[in-house]
Amino acid sequence: MDLYGVFGNPIEHSLSPIIHTQFAQQTGCAIKYDKFLAPIDDFSNSTKAFINQGGKGFNITVPFKIEAFNLATELTLNAQTAGAVNTIKVKGNQLIGENTDGIGLVNDLTKNLGINLNNKTILILGAGGATRGILLPLLNQQPKRLMIANRTASKAKQLALDFCSHGKTCGFGLDKVKNDPVDIVINATSASLNGKMPTIANGVANGAICYDLMYGTQTPFMDWAQTNHAHKVVDGLGMLVEQAAAAFEFWTGKQPNTQIVIKNLRR
Ligand code: ATR
Repeated sequence: MDLYGVFGNPIEHSLSPIIHTQFAQQTGCAIKYDKFLAPIDDFSNSTKAFINQGGKGFNITVPFKIEAFNLATELTLNAQTAGAVNTIKVKGNQLIGENTDGIGLVNDLTKNLGINLNNKTILILGAGGATRGILLPLLNQQPKRLMIANRTASKAKQLALDFCSHGKTCGFGLDKVKNDPVDIVINATSASLNGKMPTIANGVANGAICYDLMYGTQTPFMDWAQTNHAHKVVDGLGMLVEQAAAAFEFWTGKQPNTQIVIKNLRR
């Protein structure tokens, strides 16, 4: 059995073991995937113990994605631009860091939801780590325009500047979001975690696809989107499964069937 796992704190409610176990069954890989609670101040040693036991790779979730970035001895372009790592492959003494969050979101939007991002106007709410992690894969789809709106305007402006060589980006404060509809609104703030909705103009949701990176609960953003006539309202469960699939492929070279797993989890 090849050993894989996920490190986080908290980790109890992680769905990753269920997802990866289904991927392993589908693809005929002999894999054992566990969840590990790493102490807040001892992430690095927890992963070392796992590697010493023969661990072949692991996922990293909140709050260790930046520490994992620093732990990696090699980084993919995705991980470099994201400034964070959610997947590590152990290769001899090398720890190769990748970030599959953005690819996961793009694959959920394009493959599962059938949305072509090319030439679309995208509005992202939030300018923290979650936003940084999804920007490059989104821009690689060549949207017409990618706007970042954040409560703290300076952070949105800086992120837009950091990524402007990859596509047409702009950043501003949440209070500057115009009342014009856009094609896609992505909630990448952590507001949902606290049961809050980032305050923006109501007209924005009209006819748009509204996507919350959170999953497992109907968020205030999703309520807002429904009330304000969004074309479609989606949670982040598909992204969760797709980021796991990209990690699984990074480790094993095999592409699992994600739609079956998403259906199972929704049930
Ligand atoms: P993450 O890694 O989840 O992105 P983060 O880096 O702490 O976490 O970023 C949280 C993001 O959610 C930020 O963009 C934050 O806005 P500020 O930069 O102004 O702090 C945003 N956020 C959190 N709570 C919010 C709220 N109630 N309304 C609007 N934005 C909020």
